[in-house]
Amino acid sequence: MLDTAKVSPSILSADFLHLGEELDRVACADYIHVDVMDGHFVPNLSYGTTIVEAVRRATDLPIDVHMMVSNPDDTIDWYADAGADLITVHYEAATDLSRIIDRLHDRGLAAGVVLNPATPVYVLEDVLTRIDLVLIMSVNPGFGGQGFIEETYEKLRRLKRLCHEVGADPLIQVDGGVGTANARKLGEAGADVLVAGSAVFRAEDPGQVVNELRELATEGIRSGRAAL
Ligand code: DX5
Ligand code: ZN
Repeated sequence: MLDTAKVSPSILSADFLHLGEELDRVACADYIHVDVMDGHFVPNLSYGTTIVEAVRRATDLPIDVHMMVSNPDDTIDWYADAGADLITVHYEAATDLSRIIDRLHDRGLAAGVVLNPATPVYVLEDVLTRIDLVLIMSVNPGFGGQGFIEETYEKLRRLKRLCHEVGADPLIQVDGGVGTANARKLGEAGADVLVAGSAVFRAEDPGQVVNELRELATEGIRSGRAAL
């Protein structure tokens, strides 16, 4: 649990003709979120290691790679080699989650596990103490600009309770339909890291939105804590 929220802008909504400038516009962010989609695990195809390598050359921010692929067991090393700092793999896609976590840690990366909206939090019970981050999807993965699923707040609270029960304290990240309208409430429900694509890159001033999201979620975290 963090005291100050973090923001991870998703470059899925950035202008790829000007990716370097887009990254400069979010230099105040805490991570850069790179959505890898394979056209198989999700019904969309995005980009792979070439973009991670390009982002690595353009920024010193930690790179957060969200792998929406069917075979993360076979491909995490590609993204570690390309310069990722944090890799999140979908619970629904991993064959041997335990091995993936060990492999990422052995290579010095942070390890995260992602849950789709239809996957309950209790499936993480036996790995929660070994992972650095849980990513709760607040849309069905595959596309930017979708509507936020309201049940996410309750799911975040369930995850917080489960973490408490097993004595784990991973960062909790939320991805999909996040913006200034729900950032505070997400912090209050337990989110530490907000991923936002369209809300950031479609804005006039992306850096300002990053700062606003961080402030709002931080207010939420502090008021959630005060209510405990
Ligand atoms: C969706 C991706 C997201 C996406 C979020 O499957 O995982 O990271 O970029 O986009 P917004 O913030 O526009 O919902
Ligand atoms: Zn994502």
